[in-house]
Amino acid sequence: MNGLMRSRQFLFSVVMGAQPDKQKKLSGMGSALESATLLRDKGIRRVLLVTTAGTLRRNTLDDLQKMLDEAGITPVVFSDVAPDPTTVHATHCAQTYQEGSCEAILAIGGGSVIDCAKIAGALAVNPGKTVADISGTMRVGRKIPYFIAVPTTAGTGSEATAGAVIADISDGIHFKHPINDLHLVPDVAILDPYLLLTLPPKITAHTGMDALSHAVEAYTNRFCQKKTSAVATRSVQTIFQNLTRSFDDGQNLELRLALLEASYDAGWAINRNFIGYVHAISHAIGGLYGLPHGYINAVIMPYVFRKYGKSAEKRLAELAFCASVAKHGASDAYNADAFIVAIEMLNVHFGIPNKLDALREEDFAKIAKRAVSEGNPTYPVPQIWNEHDFIDLLGHIRCGA
Ligand SMILES: [Fe+2]
Repeated sequence: MNGLMRSRQFLFSVVMGAQPDKQKKLSGMGSALESATLLRDKGIRRVLLVTTAGTLRRNTLDDLQKMLDEAGITPVVFSDVAPDPTTVHATHCAQTYQEGSCEAILAIGGGSVIDCAKIAGALAVNPGKTVADISGTMRVGRKIPYFIAVPTTAGTGSEATAGAVIADISDGIHFKHPINDLHLVPDVAILDPYLLLTLPPKITAHTGMDALSHAVEAYTNRFCQKKTSAVATRSVQTIFQNLTRSFDDGQNLELRLALLEASYDAGWAINRNFIGYVHAISHAIGGLYGLPHGYINAVIMPYVFRKYGKSAEKRLAELAFCASVAKHGASDAYNADAFIVAIEMLNVHFGIPNKLDALREEDFAKIAKRAVSEGNPTYPVPQIWNEHDFIDLLGHIRCGA
């Protein structure tokens, strides 16, 4: 059984690792304004602008709206995106695209906004289908409209990935649909640090830890190809060099840009070598309790990485060098532990606890089932777990031991 899973994962990793790098990336102060030029050059006249009401209220997009106006482009605004968007938000967003006769999508926001816009795009090119119909792997089947992603947090990496997550709270289900399809990769990612200046320290920390979890999971997963390994390690190094400083000094544009690049790199890496059990558990917990994704990842990373034991030891030890916490000449076991402790130290700096009090024992079986169903057989994790393994781990995460 595990052998079959590994063969399938190997094939997926070869295919995903070999995907052409077709995406355009722009970065730098004020680069978001270039989206108007990109849209004009494509001959777009009407664009669906997906963002949050808060972003509009802060007048952050005034200059961009002026540029769009000058380029003769009408933005059709959809700003009804909640922090944890649901299938209802995505469906309304797709309706706005269709009713507004839009020809492209410009998503400016955090992972929630970009994910909601991606799924809306997928629904727009699949009339009559629901989110459930396209949920899973490679079920979108069609290229979504021309898509520009401009992240306003440095963490989810959604601007670089083929993935999107959306909550389903219909009929009390409380489930998060992971949707993965290469057709969802945005055509353009624009990294503009100016848009992150108002980001509160707490969100900086949570999203930064999400990015870290992407880089580490891609790197520790099996079959990680050379280029993906290089990009993931660059991301880990940049996060360790800049995240606590950016948390302490949110106005520093250089730090903000460095973290945007690290988040993009981590997204690029998971797009080639997948996420792992940190995410499989986090999606299940997030769906049930509505806790922030990056926060859950930050708490559970040390537990998951310790439980992998020998199977991830060498790769985690290598990451200890990226985090500048390795001891030369020490064993892999020693350095792997040093890396996990370094993650715990980041959590201490950010005031993130070392356990999840919200977890209820009566939900363990449901969470374990969902984690297995998301993680197996697709994610090439260092060690394959069953439902009992997850239940055991959840007990530790709940009591912090
Ligand atoms: Fe994530």
